[in-house]
Amino acid sequence: MALFFLFFFFVVSTTICLPSVSPSPLYPTVKTFIVQVHHDAIKPSVFPTNAHWYASSLSSSAAAAGTDRILHTYSTVFHGFSARLSPSEADSLRVLPHVAALIPEQVRHIHTTRSPEFLGLRSSDRAGLLKESDFGSDLVVGVIDTGIWPERQSFNDRELGPVPSKWKGECVAGDNFPSTSCNRKLIGARFFCAGYEATNGRMNQSTEFRSPRDSDGHGTHTASIAAGRYVFPASTLGYAHGVAAGMAPKARLAAYKVCWNSGCYDSDILAAFDSAVADGVDVISLSVGGVVVPYYLDSIAIGAFGAMQSGVFVSASAGNGGPGGPTVTNVAPWVTTVGAGTIDRDFPADVMLGNGKNISGVSIYGGPGLIPGRMYPLVYAGSQGGDGYSATLCLDASLDPTLVKGKIVLCDRGINSRVAKGEVVKKAGGVGMILANGVFDGEGLVADCHVLPAASIGAIAGNEIRRYIEATAAATRKSKSSLRTPTATIVFKGTHVGIRPAPVVASFSARGPNPVSPEILKPDLIAPGVNILAAWPDNVGPSGIPSDRRKTEFNILSGTSMACPHVSGLAALLKAAHPEWSPAAIRSALMTTAYSIDNRGETMLDESSGNTSTVMDYGAGHVHPQLAMDPGLVYDLTTYDYVDFLCNSNYTASNIRVVARKNADCRGARPAGHSGNLNYPSLAVTFQQYGGGMGKLSAHFIRTVTNVGEAEAVYRVSMRPPPGVEVAVEPESLAFRRVGQRLSFLVRVQSHEAKLSPGSSAVRSGWVTWSDGKHAVTSPLVVTLQQPL
Ligand SMILES: *[C@@H]1O[C@H](CO)[C@@H](O)[C@H](O)[C@H]1NC(C)=O
Ligand SMILES: *[C@@H]1O[C@H](CO)[C@@H](O)[C@H](O)[C@H]1NC(C)=O
Ligand SMILES: *[C@@H]1O[C@H](CO)[C@@H](O)[C@H](O)[C@H]1NC(C)=O
Ligand SMILES: *[C@@H]1O[C@H](CO)[C@@H](O)[C@H](O)[C@H]1NC(C)=O
Repeated sequence: MALFFLFFFFVVSTTICLPSVSPSPLYPTVKTFIVQVHHDAIKPSVFPTNAHWYASSLSSSAAAAGTDRILHTYSTVFHGFSARLSPSEADSLRVLPHVAALIPEQVRHIHTTRSPEFLGLRSSDRAGLLKESDFGSDLVVGVIDTGIWPERQSFNDRELGPVPSKWKGECVAGDNFPSTSCNRKLIGARFFCAGYEATNGRMNQSTEFRSPRDSDGHGTHTASIAAGRYVFPASTLGYAHGVAAGMAPKARLAAYKVCWNSGCYDSDILAAFDSAVADGVDVISLSVGGVVVPYYLDSIAIGAFGAMQSGVFVSASAGNGGPGGPTVTNVAPWVTTVGAGTIDRDFPADVMLGNGKNISGVSIYGGPGLIPGRMYPLVYAGSQGGDGYSATLCLDASLDPTLVKGKIVLCDRGINSRVAKGEVVKKAGGVGMILANGVFDGEGLVADCHVLPAASIGAIAGNEIRRYIEATAAATRKSKSSLRTPTATIVFKGTHVGIRPAPVVASFSARGPNPVSPEILKPDLIAPGVNILAAWPDNVGPSGIPSDRRKTEFNILSGTSMACPHVSGLAALLKAAHPEWSPAAIRSALMTTAYSIDNRGETMLDESSGNTSTVMDYGAGHVHPQLAMDPGLVYDLTTYDYVDFLCNSNYTASNIRVVARKNADCRGARPAGHSGNLNYPSLAVTFQQYGGGMGKLSAHFIRTVTNVGEAEAVYRVSMRPPPGVEVAVEPESLAFRRVGQRLSFLVRVQSHEAKLSPGSSAVRSGWVTWSDGKHAVTSPLVVTLQQPL
């Protein structure tokens, strides 16, 4: 009762004290905040709903009138609401007793026929993962993205049973999306635009659908990767012919549209998490990211924590900021962070130069081509005067048609999108394009559906072509008499499979170390994310640019956005096969069975440099679904473990409360010690060197494994210590007598300091494996030495 009066009092007082501020999107100092209300605060009974209660703290008029200022209310993964607030309103709210925190909004951005087979998932495999899990038919994958194009073959519901009885979701109607758009495959669809429109004003309904319908293509693509049906034949513009299938072809899909023309707004993303968990999804797939911030300011980390508490597995893309590090995003330890690798399929195209040289590139151009056998004049527009820099990049309107007409144009990667460069060349009258990587992109090649004949080539080849053009010009100047022209053509070679080496870590895939918690290795693992074929909407051409009117049922895209839904679909299959597994157990199974050896039998390469890749690039390695089905042991985690982790990471009680919605008592954090003791399937420690290169550094990890294999099993440890590091594991063997039994062990790590220049660091990696002769449960072990400045 006392509580009630307390609340009633502040409600009255705030309605008097708070000025009413126009929620106009144009009001410059007004910003969207996500407001957390204490989880144990009880709604005073005068208010019919939480929305009315929350609104009362914003409105100067009757409580009910303020509800139109609330963008979203949250009740499943988070308690509270979002609203546009002026600085003074924000200050007033912050001091209210029932308000726990104000989180400023961030804007985020969206970051396969062959991939199931490459991963060893063939429908004909009798004992395979697909069979045992009945293809995951009772599981629901929620995709938080740009929406969905429901009429695609990938989303047909033939031979699927009734919608799972636990499902509480809806098919929300809107522009071009009647509520009949859903079926027994796409069982739910919602859209969240209040946060987007609060900042940008009402959306332009002639350029985007105010409904779950996808006007971009990204969400349709990712959803079909996670759980698309078998579609035969599938291809894009004649490339990659074959059967298209998602990872979990019978799992159900629910689309949560949060990404709009100008981005994906935090308040909407959190609302999608809230609905998805309440609707009853089993897995959330999120191929969206932004700037890395501490967990208590990160609505994706907060939403994902709430999802994890409800047993929902959350996978998120690592980001496309590679090959440099640290670039990895979505790094919270309760999220599975997915980087991208190549598959063993390629789309080769040869660039033939007038000097007889051949350069290998890639292309998936499928329209009217160049005339076979003919050589075309070749031009590098930046070297011909004008605004050289923008012409080298083929930026909009930078090319002089008199210079470019009838020629093949060399364009450098960067600034505008790769496909936009093709459009610029085509508009200026060019007949073809060679797209060269910059030094930063290295040798990683991405095939795009360009609007004209085009091929992508690496940085070294780009230099070679520039030298050829320059040498031809020099020869012309010298000889004066005969005018020489550099020439080239592109020979398209279709689709090749069985490419070696594969997988290779994609150039763009974001890399560790983890910028928020260096003791948690991120990304966790990699999955296919280069040149992935999946479903595509009708209203968007395969290049995604407005003038492209081509229609394709499928499109080929690359990105960690494409890698993430592979893991989401696999998680659904694993959960179908092992309904009792927690999200952490599923991740553990995926990580401890991942591999780092490619199809040549050597350590995976890094596409950007052609050098051997490292744990900072691939985490535990590349997913291996069949092995993940039967991992033997798992490293499990509960909500309490994550709270202890936050305690050990020195987060304040109030910051922990924002993430975990619990009053954490950090004095009792178990197991005592450091945040690296989170029972994670990888082991990472960072040492600061203070011994002038002569000292010894040591650390220990406590881990607990749960037996999910045979009841009686004896596991023995083996390891490859990181170079210059001594590793001891106690005990060296673990004897299990029953399924579900948990046994702990200690890993001691001792390292000599290295000779490092001030401010530099060295990363050394090895591994620790528990094996019973049938299962191999492997964790990467990473030691980072840092020399202070
Ligand atoms: C909406 O977009 C269309 C197409 O780009 C444009 O012609 C129109 O002016 C836009 N309307 C508004 C209100 O911005
Ligand atoms: C270059 O490639 C073309 C087409 O792929 C081939 O016909 C030609 O023989 C190659 N030339 C050299 C020098 O390798
Ligand atoms: C690749 O390896 C070579 C030889 O070890 C080294 O010189 C080069 O710097 C490496 N390249 C990158 C990008 O790391
Ligand atoms: C937390 O604070 C303690 C004591 O100051 C320190 O030893 C420890 O390294 C800190 N841990 C982290 C993860 O920052």
